[in-house]
Amino acid sequence: MEYKQLEQLLKDMSLEEKVGQMVQLPAGMIAKEGLITGQVDNLHLPKEQKRLIGSVLGLTGAEDLREMQENFMAEHPHHIPLLLMYDVINGMETIFPIPLGQGCTFSPELVEQAARVAAKEATAAGLHVTFSPMLDLVRDARWGRVMESTGEDPYLNAELGKAMVRGYQGSGKGEALDLAKEGNIAGCVKHFAAYGAPLGGREYENVELSERTLREDYFPAYQAAIEEGCVMVMTSFNTLNRIPSSGNKWLMRKVLREEMKFDGLLISDYSAVDEMISHGIAADSREAAKLAILAGVDMDMVSNAYIRYLAELVRSGEVEERLVDDGCMRVLKLKNELGLFENPFKDGSVEKEMEILLCKEHRNLARKMAAKSFVLLKNEKILPLAKEANGTVALIGPYADTVDMFGAWSFPKKPELGVTIKQGMEAKGVVPAVSKGCFIQDEDKQAKVGQKDVYTEEELEFLMKEAVETAKSAETVILCLGEHREYTGEGGSRADITLPKHQLELLHRVAKVNKNIVTVVFSGRPVVISEVVEVSKAVLMVWMPGTEGGNAVADVLYGDVMPEGKLSMCLPRSVGQVPIFYNKFRTGRPNEEGTRVGFIHGYIDESIYPLFPFGYGLTYTDFVYSEVKLSKDTMTKEEAVTATVTVTNTGMRDAVETVQLYLWDVTGSVVRPEKMLKGFQKVSLKAGESKEVSFAITEDMLRFYNIDMEFASEPGRFVAYIGSDSSTKNGAEFRLV
Ligand code: BGC
Repeated sequence: MEYKQLEQLLKDMSLEEKVGQMVQLPAGMIAKEGLITGQVDNLHLPKEQKRLIGSVLGLTGAEDLREMQENFMAEHPHHIPLLLMYDVINGMETIFPIPLGQGCTFSPELVEQAARVAAKEATAAGLHVTFSPMLDLVRDARWGRVMESTGEDPYLNAELGKAMVRGYQGSGKGEALDLAKEGNIAGCVKHFAAYGAPLGGREYENVELSERTLREDYFPAYQAAIEEGCVMVMTSFNTLNRIPSSGNKWLMRKVLREEMKFDGLLISDYSAVDEMISHGIAADSREAAKLAILAGVDMDMVSNAYIRYLAELVRSGEVEERLVDDGCMRVLKLKNELGLFENPFKDGSVEKEMEILLCKEHRNLARKMAAKSFVLLKNEKILPLAKEANGTVALIGPYADTVDMFGAWSFPKKPELGVTIKQGMEAKGVVPAVSKGCFIQDEDKQAKVGQKDVYTEEELEFLMKEAVETAKSAETVILCLGEHREYTGEGGSRADITLPKHQLELLHRVAKVNKNIVTVVFSGRPVVISEVVEVSKAVLMVWMPGTEGGNAVADVLYGDVMPEGKLSMCLPRSVGQVPIFYNKFRTGRPNEEGTRVGFIHGYIDESIYPLFPFGYGLTYTDFVYSEVKLSKDTMTKEEAVTATVTVTNTGMRDAVETVQLYLWDVTGSVVRPEKMLKGFQKVSLKAGESKEVSFAITEDMLRFYNIDMEFASEPGRFVAYIGSDSSTKNGAEFRLV
C-alpha cells in the first residue's frame, strides 16, 4: 500500500478503531469461531471493542492463525489484518541454545544464522513478529532472565543483538530491509530499559542506576539493534530510577525517540501499563493509560487500559488525538511493511511448516551452534574421551537421558524429537551404562510454576545406590547435572544458585567410587559450582543446548568438535559474590591478590575474583600469546594504533581461539572500568601453527560519558590488553594526545 493510502485509511477510521489498533490481546481471547469469547477472558470487554484490536500474541501454527485472521478480518469494519506476535527466543521448533549460551559462541555469524532459521520457521508457522532480541545487560546471576540475555558485556551484547536483528529481519549482508519477503519476521528489542538490573536479582524488582551507567553500559545494545533497523521495541516491567518504564517520558520520548532515533512501534510489556497502578504512580487504569500514551507507548499489551480508556481520554481532551493517530499509524505502517494488507497470512503455510520445521538443515545448525556454545571450564587430561572405551562409560544424572534441554522460553510442539545425551552417545557407537541417580529438583523446592518432582526417600535412595553401582564398574563417569529449566526465565529468580542438594550428594557419592568424573552442567544462569569443579576432572557448561543438545554434547565429549565457547558472564565462586562482572571500577584500595588482608578492597571470607572470568573457556589444545606490540605508543584523534599479538597453538589438535581485546583508560575525569571488551576475533590455528592477530584502536573506542556527561575521549594513558579471557594481564600502554 502506498503511504498515501495508509493516511487515507487512518482518516477513515473512527477513534475507537484507531485505539483498537493500539491494543494487543492474548490469543485465548479470540475464539476460533469468529470472535472473541473468552476462554481466558478476564477483561470482560464487549465484543464490539474486541473486534477492533490490532494484534494478538501467543498462538502459533499456520492453520490456526489463518483461521483466526480470516475470521477476524471479516468482522473488522476496515478488514484490517491482525499483527501476530510470539516469543520466538531461541528458535521456533528447532531449538537453539538459550541466548546466554549463544553469547558464549562469541559468533555474530552463527547467531545471525540461528535467528534466520528461527525467522523462517516462525513465519512458516504464520507469525509476523518475534519478541526478540532481549538485550538487557545482566550482572546478577540470581535473576532468572539472565538466560535470555547474551550476557554481561555491552559490546558483546550489541554485536550479537545486531546479528539477531539481521537474522530475523533478513537484512543481512547489506540487504535492504524488506519485511514482506518470505522468511523475514519483525524483531522487537526488549526490555526498554534496564530490566536486567533488578535489585538483588529479584524478579520484577525496581532498578536504580546512575544515568552514566545506563548510558555507558545498559543502553548501547538496545541502541545498536535499533540502528541495525529493528522495527519494534518493548518497554520493561521495572521502574527505572523510580519511574516505571512504561510511563517514563524521558526514557521513551527523549532517549528512545529523540536520541536513538527510533521511529518504529513501541509496545508495552505484558500488562505493564496497568502495573503502574501497583507501582503506585497511577490511581487507576484510566490514569495508567494516560501516563503510557503521554510517555509514548504505541501499543498496550494485554492491559485493560487503552482498550477501555484511551478513546474517552481523547474525548475529554486529556490526550490529544494526534497521539492516537501517531500510535495507530505506526501499527498500520508495520502491517504495511510486512505486506499484510496484500497478504494477511504472510508466509503461514501448513506445507511449508511440514517442510522446514525441524528439517535436517536446521537441526544441523542447531547442533553446530550448541557445540560452540559449550564452555570447557576444567580438563585434567580426561577429555576428549575415546570412543574405543565403549562399554566402560557410565552416564549418570538426571540430565543423562532427557530431551528437556530447551530452556525456559521454548515451546516446541514436538519436544520428543529432541536428542538426549544417551542418544547422542549411542549415535557415535558408544553404549553407556545409564543411571538417573536422582531427580532434577529437590523434593522440598519447587519450580516457579509450582511444578516439582515428587518422590519418596526410598525412591531417591534406590536411584542413588544404582548410580553408585553403575559408577563402580565404569572407567569414566559422565555426570549430567543441572538446574531445572523452570528455575530460570521469567519469574525464575533464585536466592541460592547452587545445584540442588541431591545432585551434589550424588556427585560426592559417585566420587567415592570413581575419580574419573566428567561433569556436564545444564543451567540457565552461571550457577555456583565450586564443589563440582573441585571434585570433577573435567567440567563442561552446556547451558540449555536445545533440540540437538545430546548430539552436540557427544560431539564435544568425544572430540569430534573442539570446544570453543567463552563465558558470556562470570561464574561466581559463591552466591555472596553476586553481582560480579569483569568491567568494574578500581577502588581507592585495590587488592591484586583478591583475598583480603587488612583494610583493603574485598571480603574477609571470599575472593573478589570469580571462579571463572568473563571470556574464559578452554579447548583440547593450548594457546600461547606473545606480548602485545603496538604500531606506535602515541595516538591522535585522527590516527589509529594497531595492537598485535602472535597466538600459537602449542597443542596437538587444530582449534579455534577467540582472541579478545580489552582497553583500560588509566585516568579519566570520572573513574573508568579496569577493562572493557572492545573487539574479538576468532582464529583457526592448526596444531603448532602461529598467527598474528591485530586490532585497530581508534579514538571512538576511547569515548565515555565524562564529568560533564559529554560522550568524548580524554587525552592520557591507556592500556590495550589482548588475551584469552578478561583476566589477561597481557597489555601494552599508549597515550592519546
Ligand atoms: C515478558 C516479555 C514477553 C511477553 C510476551 C512478558 O511477560 O516479559 O519478555 O515478550 O511477556 O509473552
